[in-house]
Amino acid sequence: MPASIYGAWKDALPQVLQHIVSQIEEFSRKHKEETGEAAYEHLIYRIKSEESMRDKCIRKGLPESPVSALYDIHDAIGIRIVCCFLNDIYENIDFIRSMPGCTIVKGKDYIRNAKPNGYRSYHLIIDMETPMEDVKGQNPGHFFAEIQLRTIAMDSWASLEHQMKYKKDIRNPEMITRELKRCADELASCDLSMQTIRNLIRQEH
Ligand code: GTP
Ligand code: MG
Repeated sequence: MPASIYGAWKDALPQVLQHIVSQIEEFSRKHKEETGEAAYEHLIYRIKSEESMRDKCIRKGLPESPVSALYDIHDAIGIRIVCCFLNDIYENIDFIRSMPGCTIVKGKDYIRNAKPNGYRSYHLIIDMETPMEDVKGQNPGHFFAEIQLRTIAMDSWASLEHQMKYKKDIRNPEMITRELKRCADELASCDLSMQTIRNLIRQEH
């Protein structure tokens, strides 16, 4: 078996991931205690597989090494937070910004600026300071993670669109692309309405 592309950090990655995830889970638990509602609907996470990471290095013209995987590429650790409502996304982002040792190094707002195909989500790259040596020899170390935040509607659209990408034998790809874009825009409009309805219900109490 070839050596891990994550080198000596293979076992550190799940620990850093768990450290981030438990803080977000705890935030949601407290949020529920205080407001009656969790901060998100569900959350998933993963360490990027060896194979996907190697493919990504090759695609980016980088050597297949721990430095590429942990320093040049920022999504070895990936977390997706799926929220019921638009405002919840921004509350989660505020919390992430406040986590000890966490710095947001990049934010991409594909909600206000949807991709041309209709893709919507808020992407963050964070740098998590951690009490162990990193791939550059720094201690405390710095580990990157990608956090994607989206509504349930955005998430269902992204799953469908993702499936599409791997179907090679589609008869009318232009029409499918156009219809998917239309759905994305309709879902975005529903997300806005749902947020408005929620605000109205809350005002009544
Ligand atoms: P890399 O792709 O990571 O090199 O960087 P990038 O700057 O292109 O990242 P970007 O923020 O565009 O996308 C990163 C991740 O977001 C992807 O791996 C997907 O999980 C998700 N994503 C981005 N665009 C799309 C899209 O059009 N459809 C779907 N289904 N997912 C997308
Ligand atoms: Mg990409």
